[in-house]
Amino acid sequence: MSGVNEIRSTFLDYFRKHGHEAVASSPLVPRNDPTLMFTNAGMVQFKNVFTGLETRPYTRAATAQKCVRAGGKHNDLDNVGYTARHHTFFEMLGNFSFGDYFKEEAISLAWNLITKEFGLNKDKLLVTVYHTDDDAANYWKKIAGLSDDRIIRIATNDNFWAMGDTGPCGPCSEIFYDHGDHIWGGPPGSADEDGDRFIEIWNLVFMQFEQVTSEERIDLPRPSIDTGMGLERIAAVLQGVHDNYDIDLFRALIRASEEATGVKAEGAQRASHRVIADHLRSASFLIADGVLPSNEGRGYVLRRIMRRAMRHVQLLGAREPLMYRLLPALVREMGQAYPELVRAEALISETLKLEETRFRKTLERGLGLLSEATENMHEGQSLDGETAFKLYDTYGFPLDLTQDALRQRGIGVDTEGFANAMERQKAEARASWSGSGDAAMETIWFSVRDKVGATEFLGYDTEKAEGVVTALVHAGKLIDKASQGENVSIIVNQTPFYAESGGQQGDTGFIYGDGFVIEVTDTVKKADGVFVHQAVIREGKLQNDDAVELVVDHERRAKMRSNHSATHLLHEALRETLGSHVAQKGSLVAPERLRFDFSHPKPISDEELRKVENIANEIILQNAPVTTRLMAVDDAIEAGAMALFGEKYGDEVRVVSMGTATQGEKSGKTYSLELCGGTHVRQTGDIGLVRIVSEGAVAAGVRRLEALTGEAARLYLEEQDERVKAIASALKTTPSEALERVNSLIDERRKLEKELAEARKKLALSGGSSKADHEVKTINGVQFMGRSVTGVAPKDLKPLADEGKKALGSGIVAFIGVSDDGKASAVVAVTEDLTARFSAVDLVRIASVVLGGKGGGGRADMAQAGGPDGAKADEALAALAKAIEG
Ligand code: ALA
Repeated sequence: MSGVNEIRSTFLDYFRKHGHEAVASSPLVPRNDPTLMFTNAGMVQFKNVFTGLETRPYTRAATAQKCVRAGGKHNDLDNVGYTARHHTFFEMLGNFSFGDYFKEEAISLAWNLITKEFGLNKDKLLVTVYHTDDDAANYWKKIAGLSDDRIIRIATNDNFWAMGDTGPCGPCSEIFYDHGDHIWGGPPGSADEDGDRFIEIWNLVFMQFEQVTSEERIDLPRPSIDTGMGLERIAAVLQGVHDNYDIDLFRALIRASEEATGVKAEGAQRASHRVIADHLRSASFLIADGVLPSNEGRGYVLRRIMRRAMRHVQLLGAREPLMYRLLPALVREMGQAYPELVRAEALISETLKLEETRFRKTLERGLGLLSEATENMHEGQSLDGETAFKLYDTYGFPLDLTQDALRQRGIGVDTEGFANAMERQKAEARASWSGSGDAAMETIWFSVRDKVGATEFLGYDTEKAEGVVTALVHAGKLIDKASQGENVSIIVNQTPFYAESGGQQGDTGFIYGDGFVIEVTDTVKKADGVFVHQAVIREGKLQNDDAVELVVDHERRAKMRSNHSATHLLHEALRETLGSHVAQKGSLVAPERLRFDFSHPKPISDEELRKVENIANEIILQNAPVTTRLMAVDDAIEAGAMALFGEKYGDEVRVVSMGTATQGEKSGKTYSLELCGGTHVRQTGDIGLVRIVSEGAVAAGVRRLEALTGEAARLYLEEQDERVKAIASALKTTPSEALERVNSLIDERRKLEKELAEARKKLALSGGSSKADHEVKTINGVQFMGRSVTGVAPKDLKPLADEGKKALGSGIVAFIGVSDDGKASAVVAVTEDLTARFSAVDLVRIASVVLGGKGGGGRADMAQAGGPDGAKADEALAALAKAIEG
């Protein structure tokens, strides 16, 4: 008997030996297909290889692929727990040929593996083929030596496999295992085929066609092979058990839930343990692949799975959240084959715990209501839609949870009544919206939301995805198509484009499709979750329901990721440096720079700025992973996450954390923890570098920082460096000596200025301070020396006047200095013997008036004034002479 892990590796090794590339499982959220909710088969990741759109360096491959069938075409959710073989999550082992081998070798490879490597008894095997497929039937006869009665021809779709409504497809041949006549059931195609005796273990699909639309089917470029063997099923066969839930892996999981609940997996409780084990797997793998519980799309399927499991936890009598406690058992069993499970263990654990804690609050009350409403009902009856809707709307019961809860009593649910109640509630919400002002303008988006639901955002994980156009809007109206040159708002079922919010600008990029190219110039969010791509049709024509490929401008987005993550780091570094009063007041995350407004009452010193920058760069150098979790708002805030005051948050929030604090009271703990819906770098090191380039005030008590990251920061520093080099070369020195050189030049200049001033002073005096000079006039018996001078600093005028007084012995001295920019300063000095007759203050005022000034001041023997009109210096001197004359 071999364990699941051994069977998986035996399978992959076998095909490796036969020239196949062992390819890793692709994520559960298909990257390359908008029509699929989850990866539901091994061939999904190779879809475009089959159709010829994509080529790979190999033509043979083998995988163990994670699959979820809980939504869309293949949905097993309702049956899980009650049957031996239904799962929401399972692993599909498969081998693939892309135009390499076809039917004969596929049959031969499969037959040898199961009969030789796995050692299955040939007598217990039989196969089916599509009724017209003589080739396949002949190969089975030739290769396996099976008699005609063991090669069953099937005319139905059971032997024609398709991935979905469109995509590669082809006739198939299935291998069945006979579990023995102690189990009821007949071979495929017989009246008793639904029994459990003959179990399909391997499906070999002869991929030959592509279903393009529901009407059109074309040939694939080359016939190919796609096979799928449920790992759980083959494990059951190899381990000699009939029931998938009895294989080693499930026994380990069920043992864990038995231990945690203290309830044995027997009788009525058996189904609950199975549901828990199965749903633990699908929920954990979905979370590891980036799906988080929500009320839309994939997130809602995950929520339904989790809540369905949680009701069964409750049925087993557990009083506390339980699912997360079973996670270590799952990681032990599957972590080696799927390292993503180990990497995401903390996230999965927290998400499970949060959902269970929150749901518990309403689960019991809802179950109470349900049992009251069905008290007098019996098998065959149906619960009314209104009650089912109330359970959904008020108590968070997904419809399938209510159905599951009534299933064992044989009671159904009026699903039509449920849908009507849901529709009525939407109509009421619409009506309350169309009432007021601005809101009325936005009504179009609410009808879009009603029609197509919220957009699923894939952009946290990918920048490229496929989607289907669900609505086109132009000038506030829904339209059917748009052509080249037209502006149009495009809504798609899912998108990697980030819509502007939280300060981060919307993504731009391109949308491609059959015959059209569209440029997206911005993306915005409307009506609570509708992502609107504002676009221009560059080529061709677009219409509703078109399949599109959406490609985000990677460079621009990468810069915004960096700038957004750096904003978080600066925010925390500011709080650390300036104090916890620092709170975000606004933020802009653009590709070219980041801007951050925050509360702080005074300017920030250069030293503080450098510190903030250094701390942020230190965390960048830690190159720590940036992690994202979904948490209840209250828990997030309690954990210390920074929330924006006045911001409206849902019940659950994304919490982005990065780095480890190295000092202070947070030392050793997460450095930055913020509620945020934006897109971030994967590792802090991706930011490269952050550089603050400006700091200033924007409003009272609000400061603004601008900063650059990565390449922009590097270019900025490079420019600064070039500048220093140019300065050094102009100074004829090296950059490192430039400062010293500048300082000595400044000193030299000061010295020269001083010398120049002295020289000018001397010149001024020599031109007019001696008594003999012709500029000394005697007016009214008083000697008057009056001069206008240039190039003498105002502070040097007084000493000049003093010297003038000395030269005169008795008299009045006036100097008017005219500066380079044409302004005047005047000094008037009166010798002691004349102060009784003349006041320097009065005289200087007279000069000042002429010079356009507003008076002056000083003492009777010495006064000073100024004025803007230096050109009138001579006029002012004349006015003084006149005043002395009396
Ligand atoms: N794609 C095939 C299946 O899922 C093998 O059964």
